[in-house]
Amino acid sequence: KKRILSMYQCTGTFTLGNYLGALRNHIKLQDEGYQCVYALADLHALTVRQVPAELRRYTKEAYAWLLAMGLDTEKTVFFIQSQVPQHSQLAWLLNCYTQFGELSRMTQFKDKSAKHADNINAGLFTYPCLMAADILLYQADFVPVGADQKQHVEIARDIAERFNGIYGDTFTVPEPLIPKHGARVMSLQNPLSKMSKSDENQNGNISVLDDPDTILRKFKRAKTDSGSEVRFAEGKEGVNNLMNIYAAVTGKTMEEIEREFEGKGYGDFKPAVAEAVISELRPIQERYHELLADKEFLEKTYREQAPRAAALAQRTLSKVMRKVGLVS
Ligand code: TYM
Repeated sequence: KKRILSMYQCTGTFTLGNYLGALRNHIKLQDEGYQCVYALADLHALTVRQVPAELRRYTKEAYAWLLAMGLDTEKTVFFIQSQVPQHSQLAWLLNCYTQFGELSRMTQFKDKSAKHADNINAGLFTYPCLMAADILLYQADFVPVGADQKQHVEIARDIAERFNGIYGDTFTVPEPLIPKHGARVMSLQNPLSKMSKSDENQNGNISVLDDPDTILRKFKRAKTDSGSEVRFAEGKEGVNNLMNIYAAVTGKTMEEIEREFEGKGYGDFKPAVAEAVISELRPIQERYHELLADKEFLEKTYREQAPRAAALAQRTLSKVMRKVGLVS
């Protein structure tokens, strides 16, 4: 079976961007003949200052959310990154095989260091090495991600190829998998920047836990343009984003959407997008609240998953340690 790996930061409630660009597609893969390995990247979360109690709460909530979406831990390994020490161990080794120059070119580092100028820590800089460790430990063939993570998967490929070049075949060189619709869900308030948990303007992002009224209100207020036609075109970034969301949720093509709203305006289109999102999220939200209430089950599940992941990860780590000359 081909192996798939992906991870998610748990620094807040997932956004519609995480959901459409990643989570929803990833969970489907467990029934499509892949061995899936998924995790919550709580170590990555520490590259930006977190409130400890909140990070812990968000981590458990994120875990419950993926289970509510139908992630089946009988089929898929699903753990919390910090509970599998091999990630930190391999990350250190990979640090020594990654160049200062290539890390300096990462656009996410440039963006984040501009945004958090008071805390440009070494972890923020070497973040891609930890992410490469996440991927390479499991010998992943494919790494499904939204478009914003493509560059990080590419550096993981470069690191794998470099290491294999020096020491012989060690790592599977992973391929990114990027969805057609939903790969880049933009802020509803600023359609030129991606929808993100950390957006200061909360009207710009839809959280997967937002209630129907909030979702409807946010879509109604979404920035569009002075026109009124529902058409996918250059210069109509706001409308394009809404069409992208509608396409991802309903499975319709852009042409079908244009036909559906022909002769109608944004006043009809925006609530239709909201309704589609609301009915998509509602059943998951219900299961989520049930799961979250069962603290014992949740804790038992993630504690059982960590050793499963560690067993897989250790095979790769031992191989790497031997190759680079560490005593076993
Ligand atoms: P993170 O936590 O920012 O996002 C998790 C997943 O959601 C996707 N995503 C989006 N997709 C479409 N539109 C958006 N607005 C949007 N925002 C986020 C991301 O592309 C991602 O797939 N570094 C990673 C986490 C990570 C990881 C890994 C991923 C750590 N180790 C190993 C893959 C493999 C991150 O911060 O994603």
